[in-house]
Formats: sequence, C-alpha cells, structure tokens
Amino acid sequence: DLYDVAVVGATGAVGEAMISILEERDFPVRNLYPLASSRSAGKTIMFKGKSVTVTDLAEFDFSKAQIGLFSAGGSISEKYAPIAAEQGCVVVDNTSHFRRDEDIPLIVPEVNIEALAGYTSRGIIANPNCSTIQMLVALKPIYDAVGIERINVCTYQAVSGTGKEAIEELAGQTARLLNGQEAECEVYPKQIAFNALPHIDTFQDNGYTREEMKMVWETQKIFADHSIQVNPTCVRVPVFFGHSEAVHIETVDKITAEQARELLRQAPGVEVMDERTDGGYPTAVTESAGTDPVYVGRIREDISHPRGLDMWVVADNVRKGAALNSVQIAESLIATYLD
Ligand code: A2P
Repeated sequence: DLYDVAVVGATGAVGEAMISILEERDFPVRNLYPLASSRSAGKTIMFKGKSVTVTDLAEFDFSKAQIGLFSAGGSISEKYAPIAAEQGCVVVDNTSHFRRDEDIPLIVPEVNIEALAGYTSRGIIANPNCSTIQMLVALKPIYDAVGIERINVCTYQAVSGTGKEAIEELAGQTARLLNGQEAECEVYPKQIAFNALPHIDTFQDNGYTREEMKMVWETQKIFADHSIQVNPTCVRVPVFFGHSEAVHIETVDKITAEQARELLRQAPGVEVMDERTDGGYPTAVTESAGTDPVYVGRIREDISHPRGLDMWVVADNVRKGAALNSVQIAESLIATYLD
C-alpha cells in the first residue's frame, strides 16, 4: 500500500531530514506534500529524483493525506494537528505541544511501541524531545534488566536542535570571531561560538529549564514509571549536529559494566563503542552526525555509589532525536494499524 504524506515544516532542519529519511528508507509514499509558511510556498524540493513544490500550510487540504509529519513549532501543531487529524490524516508531531497529554502516545519505537495503540483517541502521536529519545534508547535494556531508580544527566546539545537560524548563527559567529570581528547574538542570549550555555528553552519556577523538565516528564511517561527520578542539566554547545550526554544512573539491583555492555550490544538501535583507549568512544561529529544509531561508550561502574553506572550517549539529534524517530513511528503505524 502507498500513502500520501504531508511534511509540515518541510523547509526546516528537521523537515528536510524527514523528507530525505522517507526517501532513504523507501517509505511507501504515493504523494509527498511539503508544507511550510507562505514565505516558502512555490519553492521546490527534490524527492526521489523529482522536484515537488512547497505549499502554504494554511491552504492545504489535509483530507488529501493519510499521514502528517509535523515539525514547524508548537503553536503551528496546536492549530493544525487537530485539523489534520479531524480530516483523517494521522499526525506524528515532533513539537512538545501534545507530549504531556494523557491521551496522546509519546513514542520511542525501541522503548514503548506498545503505547502506539492509544493513537486512535485523537489521531495524534507525539515524538519525544531529542535528548530524551537517545537517553532512553540506551537505558531501556538496563531498565528492563535491573530497574532504574534515578538518572543524573548532563547534556551537550548541538545548535541544529534550535533550527536553521541557529546553525547559521554558530557558523556566522565563528567566522566573524576568527576574522577579529565581534559576535552578533540573535538566536541565543550569549555567544554560542567557542562557548557553552547552560540554558535550553525557558526557565521554570523551580530553577530548571523547560528542556530539563521535558527530560523528567517524558522519561516518566515513556517508561510508564512515575517513580523514576531524573536530574538533568541541559547545555548548548558549539556543535552543529549530534547531542552528547553524560548519563549517571542508580539502578535497583547492581549491574556490572560488563553486563551492561553486553545488554547494550544486543539492544535495538544501539551501537556500543567502548574501547577504553584513546579515541575508543563515540563523539557527535566523528560518529553520530548523519547516521542512525544511538552510540554508547565510557560504560563504567560509579566509584561513588554501589549501584551506580555511568555512560556516554551520543546520537544525531536531527535524525534519531527527531526526523528518524518520527519516520520509525510512521512505519510502525502503517505496519500495524493503517491499511
Ligand atoms: P518557512 O521556511 O517557510 O519559514 P527550523 O526549525 O529549521 O527553523 O524550521 C521551521 C520550519 O517551520 C520551516 O519549514 C518553516 O517554514 C516552518 N514554519 C514556520 N512558521 C510557519 C508557519 N506560520 N506556517 C507554516 N510553516 C511554518
């Protein structure tokens, strides 16, 4: 069977990746409808060797599509995802807008695909936050084997997670600074080139940022475990593609580093790279950028806690953190529920 697929935000960093991943994975597309703002209407993009014209989202008739992949911002999803669903187009939404709604499934295919069944209540499926996705793909086999009580995590997040303007800001600032000119800050409140900003999304009353709280809320929802404790610090770093995370967990039962490594070697979506030698660990640029796996290295027992385990987790935030995960959700949807 073939499906008509709308990509909302088709000209953005994630939307472009969605379209190329649909093509790479040979998703059964009959018609592709790339949608964006009126600014982009009339532009063309390439799909399977043909040029396809971008349409203004506001003018699109969603009854023409059975699947909609949305990544144009929360307020766009808030308005248009229910309209699409109403017209029979099942939405996979990459924004945070619906993620915490109880009747909206929040899915990482390797972790909780069983929750996808709940999509029928509103016709919308939420794609989790990029940092949460890669962390949970790596933690799932350990969670299943020995349980996890608490997660302490620090992230090192690439600018592509913010969008195309942020990619341009990092490139532009870097070039200007190397030429002895001053950095101009528009997207981020402080210079991102050659810097690290402990600030992603908006500040909350409890002193955490919203990005940090997303990692708490979404981990509990995806594991369907409201007792799991999560303590994140999210940091933006001058990397274009690929988020890195130092993940420190306290398990319910003791697990050794070797047992964890063995479980991770068998885990779907994971690639272990853990040599304990110079360069024997994954990095954002060298391994993850442009690829699909969640890479795990630096697996070791925490010397400060009897049931502590540490690891380094790296993935392409635009692919596994967003576009790829959304396309995988759509693949499960058509395999199991649509005909
Ligand atoms: P456009 O290029 O026409 O502005 P990014 O996250 O990389 O910044 O991309 C955001 C995506 O969301 C782009 O495809 C952008 O389209 C799209 N978008 C932004 N605002 C709107 C809107 N009001 N209606 C439709 N699409 C929008």
